[in-house]
Amino acid sequence: MKTAVIPGSFDPVTNGHLDIIRRTASLFDKVYVGILKNSSKKPLFTVEERRSLLEQVTRGIPNVTVEEFDGLLVDYARSRGARFIVKGLRAVSDFEYEFQMALTNKTLNPDVETFFITTSCAYSYLSSSIVKEVAGYGGSISDFVPEEVEKAIIAKIGG
Ligand code: PNS
Repeated sequence: MKTAVIPGSFDPVTNGHLDIIRRTASLFDKVYVGILKNSSKKPLFTVEERRSLLEQVTRGIPNVTVEEFDGLLVDYARSRGARFIVKGLRAVSDFEYEFQMALTNKTLNPDVETFFITTSCAYSYLSSSIVKEVAGYGGSISDFVPEEVEKAIIAKIGG
């Protein structure tokens, strides 16, 4: 059984994340979407809220499970029997940081491979931060996030 982990902050999940999750789910038998609990970033949504939103938008994908994780990503992957970490790459600007993480993870656990999936063009500019910024200034985010997420952001910060 080929199992993959898609890690991230998901604060909140965007259409870009969802695209990567869907495509990963079509390539692997089982996919765990892992939300990092102890991030140094100050999140807009609590981990529970982020998990709930991810669960709502991935409900139709049977081989996806959403979880929170703490500590090292490679340890989380090992605990789930996952030999693959999947990350979305939007642009060259993502590459340096992602490459650094992939090599660090490879050193920590050589059995775990990081796979990069290029985002669909339509989402290449998207990020959770941009979505929050647009919503914060009252702009429409309906093209950027699923409807459930749009409602949750508006409820939290207005828009
Ligand atoms: O969505 P993000 O914020 O870019 O996700 C970053 C994430 C969660 C993938 C990264 O911070 C991570 O893997 N953290 C877990 C701690 C860890 O394993 N660090 C060493 C590898 S760089």
